[in-house]
Parts: sequence; C-alpha cells; structure tokens
Amino acid sequence: MTTPIPGYPPFKNPLSAIIMMNGYMRHFLERVEQDFARFGDLFSFEISGQQMLMLRDPEMIHEITTRQASQFVKDATYTDPRRGLAYFLGNGLLISDGEFWRRQRKLMSPAFHHKRLMSYGEIIVRESARVIDQWRGVSEADVDADMMHATLDIVAKALFSSDMNDADVQRIGAAMTSIQEFSGDQAQQILPQWIPLPSRLAQRKHIAALDEIVYRVIAEHRAMGSDNGDLLWMLLNARDEDGNGMTDRQLRDELVTLFLAGHETTANTLNWVWVLLAQNPHVEAQLHEELDRVLGGRLPTLEDLKSLTYTEQVIKEAMRLYPPAFVFSRMPVEDMELGGYPIKKGAQVTVMSWSVQRDARWYPDPLAFKPERWTPDFEASLPKGAYIPFGGGPRICIGMNFALMEANLLLAALGSRYQLRLIGDAPAPMPLLTLRPKGGLHMRIIPRAVTPTAENINFQQIERV
Ligand code: HEM
Repeated sequence: MTTPIPGYPPFKNPLSAIIMMNGYMRHFLERVEQDFARFGDLFSFEISGQQMLMLRDPEMIHEITTRQASQFVKDATYTDPRRGLAYFLGNGLLISDGEFWRRQRKLMSPAFHHKRLMSYGEIIVRESARVIDQWRGVSEADVDADMMHATLDIVAKALFSSDMNDADVQRIGAAMTSIQEFSGDQAQQILPQWIPLPSRLAQRKHIAALDEIVYRVIAEHRAMGSDNGDLLWMLLNARDEDGNGMTDRQLRDELVTLFLAGHETTANTLNWVWVLLAQNPHVEAQLHEELDRVLGGRLPTLEDLKSLTYTEQVIKEAMRLYPPAFVFSRMPVEDMELGGYPIKKGAQVTVMSWSVQRDARWYPDPLAFKPERWTPDFEASLPKGAYIPFGGGPRICIGMNFALMEANLLLAALGSRYQLRLIGDAPAPMPLLTLRPKGGLHMRIIPRAVTPTAENINFQQIERV
C-alpha cells in the first residue's frame, strides 16, 4: 500500500505555472522550508503532467543516492540540451549516465587519487601566498571575486597545468554567472526556444568565450607534446577498446564541467566561512588560537592539516549551514516506491541538502554555527543522508578530497594572516546553481598581529610544502 504524496494541486496551464514558480523561486529557500513544515519531508508539484518532488528525508535521500542509485538517472535539469545544464556542459561527467559515465569516471578518477593530491597542495599554497600578497595594504576587498579567482587558478593549474590570465578569469567568471542565471530563470526554462530572450543571446556569447578558452587550452596541451601526467593528458591519452580517443568536443565538455564544478563551489564554501567567522567572533578566536599554535605565522603544509582539526570542523559546519551545491536532483527510470510513496517514472526528485542539513531532528540548535558539534561520535550518530554537501553513493563529488584540502589550506593560510569583517549586512544566499552571496561579499581586510613580514612569505617556504 502506498500513500499519496502531499503537495500542490496540479497546474494545468503553463502560464500560471510560470507565475507561481517565478514567485516561488524569488524566495526559494524560505518557501521550501515553509512547505516542508506544511506537507512533511516529501512534497510534490505537478506542472503539465510532470511530477516534481522536493525531498529532505535522510533515509529516502540515501535510497536515491546510494542503495537504489541504479534505479535513477540525471533528470532534465541536467540533461536537456536546450533547457538543462547540458546546454553549457554538453555530455561532461556531471551530466552523462550509464556506461559512458562509468568509463569517463574511471578515466578521470586517478587525477583525484591521494598521490596526485599531494602535488596539488603545493599549487594551493602558492595561490594562497598570491592572495596574501594581493591583500597586503588593502583595506577592503570583494572577497567573493578574490575567492573565485583563486579557486579558478588552482583548478586550471592543478588539472590542466594551465595559467589563466586575468582576462580569461573574467570571461570564465562571466560565463559561470550566466550559467547560474540560466538555472534560475523560469522564463528560459519554460518558454519555447524560438523566443529570442536577451538573456539567451548573451549566453550564446558567453559559451563562445568559454569554448575559445577551453579549445585553446586543449591546443596548447597538444602543442606541448610531452605528457606531464595532468588530468588533461589522461583524457587526451584515453583510448576505448577499439583504440579510439576522445573527440575535442568531449574533451571540451569535461574541461568546462571541471572548471564549473571545481571552482565556484569551493569559492562559495570559503565565502560563507568568512561570513560565519565575522558573525561569530568566539569561533574565530578559537580558530586563530589553533592557527597560531600550529603554524606560528608560517604558511601551512599538507602535513599540518592533521593538526588543524578545528579548522576542519569550521569548514564542515559552514558547509552544513551553506552547502554550495544546495540541491541536486534525479529521475527514476521506472515507476517505483520510495519510503511508501508512489514515484512515477520520469519524475524530478529534488534533494534539498540545504533543508536536511538545517533540520533540528539531526542537528540540535540547527541555525547556530557550532564547529565543535563535529565530534566522531556525533558524525557516527547522524543518519545516512543527513550530511550531503558532496552528494553520495557512486556519483559522489569526484573532487571532494581535492576541495576539502583546498578549502582547509586556503582558510589556514589566509585566516592566520587576516581577519575579515563584513561591510554592512551579511549578504543573503542567492540560490542559483550554487549558493552565492547576493551582490558579492564586501569585507574589510584587517592584518592580524602574527602577520609575518613580506620577507617571511617567500617562496623558499613554499618550496618545502
Ligand atoms: C566545496 C566544493 C564542492 C562541492 C560542495 C561539490 C559538490 C558536488 C555535489 C553535491 C555533486 C553531486 C551532484 C549530483 O549528484 O548530481 C558533485 C559532483 C561533481 N563534482 Fe563536485 N563539489 C565541489 C568541488 C569539486 C571539485 C574541486 C571538482 C573538480 C575539480 C568537482 C567536480 C565534480 C564533478 C566532475 C562531479 C560529477 C561527478 C559524477 O557525477 O560522477 N567538484 N559535486
């Protein structure tokens, strides 16, 4: 016996659906929370016969991502070539499914193995030193822009051995913003393609700019001639059973995916860490105590991360309150039952990481920023599916360890030298594809007393990392 899913009555008319969804999306995080309180941990919308479900129940989340993962594929939000992320990302790892996804995942995994991560650590510390230099003598900064720049540089150098110039960074940043806006624009999602919305025309330009940069990076690599073992070489050298390599188009799709998935999310993790530290000086003081004790003003090394346990808890807790990928979704391949509810084949099931990670049933005092809650006992007591900033199961984020190392090293390096304070109110979270601070993140940059002199931050120190 299945129970009918609670939720909104079906919308028969697409126009009323657009009006309703536009209003809903404007206050998405608040509205979803209200609806979970009203309907329970799973509720539905039905627009023109399409079943759309919102979910925050840990057990059902675990079923979808892990136990019954093979019963689900990526839904149209990802795969629709005109309205989904595939419009930008083609058939990259985030979008593909089935055998093709499995092959690509296997191919790319070695780039994220422990051994490779060690060499990325050095790149991350060098980039931290660059930001430290950039902030010297500066009293205010758009920290969001600086974090985006740093994480984009890191992905480009670590995975593609490529240096991004400022113009490229800006063009990629603008394209990423356009991808984000696309995901939040109901008119784009619902109205027919032949309507020449100005946003659609602008996006074509951004895609062209992105393509130009990415195809250039591919051509430069080919011209380099020698295999330096980076991720792009792995992709270039990959052959299937028939000896065929990847087309330039598929290489482009994987690279754009890694640029998108690999920099914006980590930058936003750090953005929210800075906001939360500024709002919680007692946490900040404890973080400073650890950083000063372990690092004594020097740059961090990978080895230091073992001793920087509070730093790690700060990142974990910030990702609980502000998961950069605050939603993800799936589609069942057959009619099925989930937690006693009937789910139709082709339904869009949206997993609300934001909501499950702010639920008082799993996180006492859920809105408080309490890094110290992350003890091993607490983690062991959490239901599976209740902490999912990187998703779960076979499609868990391929860059999770990379991202965690990056966020911890950047926080340790920058946090030991600077204290950041909000200028004006804290930005609201803007729920597009990732959770960005609305209007950027304008902060005062205050050097800390332990700030070493310029001579101390020299590259000899980094050489030892
Ligand atoms: C704090 C940083 C990050 C967060 C919060 C994050 C979050 C996520 C989440 C939630 C997923 C699963 C999406 C789904 O199931 O539909 C995912 C997948 C993915 N992430 Fe990340 N990510 C981060 C960093 C990175 C980095 C650094 C890279 C690469 C350099 C990366 C590359 C990917 C890729 C390629 C996928 C698709 C994997 C697959 O489907 O096999 N991510 N990420």
